[in-house]
Amino acid sequence: EKGGYEHFMLKEIYEQPKAVRDTISPRLNKDNTAIVLNELKWTKQYVEAFNKVYIIACGTAYHAGLVGKYYIEKLARIPVEIDIASEFRYRDPIIDDHTLTIVISQSGETSDTLAALKESKRLGAKTLAVTNVVGSSIAREADQVMYTWAGPEIAVASTKAYTTQLVTMFILAMYMSSLKGTISPERTHELLTELRHLPDQVGRTLEDVEPIKAFAKNYAYNNDVFYIGRSLDYYVALEGALKLKEISYIHAEAYAAGELKHGTLALIESGVPVIALATQKSVYEKTLSNIKEVKARDAVIIGIAAADDNELEKYVDHVIKVPTTDELLIPLLTVVPLQLLAYYAAITRGCDVDKPRNLAKSVTVE
Ligand code: F6R
Repeated sequence: EKGGYEHFMLKEIYEQPKAVRDTISPRLNKDNTAIVLNELKWTKQYVEAFNKVYIIACGTAYHAGLVGKYYIEKLARIPVEIDIASEFRYRDPIIDDHTLTIVISQSGETSDTLAALKESKRLGAKTLAVTNVVGSSIAREADQVMYTWAGPEIAVASTKAYTTQLVTMFILAMYMSSLKGTISPERTHELLTELRHLPDQVGRTLEDVEPIKAFAKNYAYNNDVFYIGRSLDYYVALEGALKLKEISYIHAEAYAAGELKHGTLALIESGVPVIALATQKSVYEKTLSNIKEVKARDAVIIGIAAADDNELEKYVDHVIKVPTTDELLIPLLTVVPLQLLAYYAAITRGCDVDKPRNLAKSVTVE
């Protein structure tokens, strides 16, 4: 059942090229010029009626939501608020019938997310579920559904559900932007061509994992690991830190790189591993200066960069490169080495990777 892999988590990490392909293929037209969403069939008028989008989720799905917020704001120019389900449902959110609430849930059964969805409906929002389980409670409760076609995810730590959630949010944002006319046909074609190549590129991130194994072995007995990045890189950093915490029990924190000097820099001392993501061009120089700040405190820096980056390696101790793609889509690639780092750190420490202590796959209690 594990298909020759030692753990479900590793199997699911390696299933990502297929999962991402299955999620994209039915929704992309042949010549990469348009998103086709038969499950939504929205009109320009329908999308333009929304003056606000809420994205609600928990855990890894929330991290996918952060990327989704960025996509919808950047591409479709609609303001997006995002919240954790257990916060949202108790904070008297401002919602009316011009609000679209998107809930993201792999299992479709998370009780706080389901309750947040019901509360949104009660207040008059239109609702859309992004979920991996056909016929789940959340799929049944929402007005509309977009499925992530990741296939069953067994390991407690979410991997292929996350990447398929990212790609689903990208597809949705592109769909909204094409209805609203917020991006040009040329840019649409460029992005959708990158989208077409994405599954193969995810596959390429899995080709040479030996360096990642070596880092994981070297740093598996550190007490703390920090993840830094800006913009989309920050959201991936959050997900990387969560993976490490939940399966290896190493204390890990993700920081927006620019926020370090507002407190956390005090924790950076000699030998502390810092994973630094630097893929976003608009903030690249800023991230580099943050990297220099942590280097000045003698941290050990593992940089994560695109293949065409020849700069980062000058400032960090090690560098892991992922294939070059549009910077909007690169989170789907940079997260893979972070999943593998967490996996191999957990293995080195002898942890029960598929069933970490205290955690359940589906959180049906509040
Ligand atoms: C982390 C993880 C959890 C889930 C969270 C939401 O690896 O798996 O953080 O993402 O419990 O679960 P779903 O997506 O089923 O609502």
